[in-house]
Amino acid sequence: MDLADCVLIRLDPDETSIASFDCGDTDLNNFLLNDAANYLKARLSVTHILTLPIGDTVQITGYFCLLTDKLAFDPSDNEQKKVWLYFNKKHKIHFNKNRKTYPAVKIGRLAVASVFAGKGLGRLMIANAIALVVKMGDIGCRFITVDAYRDAFDFYLKNHFDFLSDDDVNEKTRLMYLDIKRLYP
Ligand SMILES: CC(C)(COP(=O)(O)OP(=O)(O)OC[C@H]1O[C@@H](n2cnc3c(N)ncnc32)[C@H](O)[C@@H]1OP(=O)(O)O)[C@@H](O)C(=O)NCCC(=O)NCCS
Repeated sequence: MDLADCVLIRLDPDETSIASFDCGDTDLNNFLLNDAANYLKARLSVTHILTLPIGDTVQITGYFCLLTDKLAFDPSDNEQKKVWLYFNKKHKIHFNKNRKTYPAVKIGRLAVASVFAGKGLGRLMIANAIALVVKMGDIGCRFITVDAYRDAFDFYLKNHFDFLSDDDVNEKTRLMYLDIKRLYP
C-alpha cells in the first residue's frame, strides 16, 4: 500500500457510504457507523475519513473527528498554578499573566482499521488533522488536544504530543496536546 494513494474526504451523510469498519475498539467502530453523521448534522464534530481506492472499491482505512476545544487552567489551585506557570514558560506565553485559557482544536476520535494498522496511516491522519487546523487561518488556534487512550499514549508521544499534567495519570484516558505555533506559515 502506498500512503500517497490515500484520499482524505469529509464525511457527507448523503454521499459517504460506510458498510463496515473495525479498528478493534467497539466504541470507535460504533461512532463511525452510527453516530458520526448525527454529530455532523448537530455540528458537534466533523468526521474526516481516510480512504484507499482499490480497483472499483473504496476502502475506509481510518477516520478522525475534529471539534473546537480549549486548554484551561485554574491558577487559584496551587498544583494547577505550577502546571500553568511551567506551561507558559515552556511555550513562551509571557505577554498576558491573566490568560488562563488557550484556544485549541480537539481530535475527538482517531482510529485506523486493524487490517491497515502499523503502515503509517495513524501518523498520516495526525498530519492531515494538523494541516486542516493550520489552514483555518482566520481563527486563532494554538494547540491540538486529544483525550488519549492508554494504549495510544506512545503513538501520540511519537507524534510530538505531550501530557498536560499528572492530574489524570491514573485515568483511562489522559489529556495530551501539541503546540502548532511553529507550523503556521
Ligand atoms: C493507535 C493507532 C491510531 C495507530 O495507528 P497506526 O496507523 O497503526 O500507527 P502508525 O503506523 O502511523 O504508527 C506511527 C508510529 O507510532 C507507533 N505506534 C503506533 N501505534 C502504537 C501504539 N499503540 N503504541 C506504541 N506505539 C505505536 C508506530 O510503531 C510508529 O512508530 P515508528 O515511527 O517508530 O515506526 C491505531 O493502532 C488504532 O486505531 N488503534 C485503535 C484505536 C485507538 O486506540 N485510537 C486512539 C484513540 S485516542
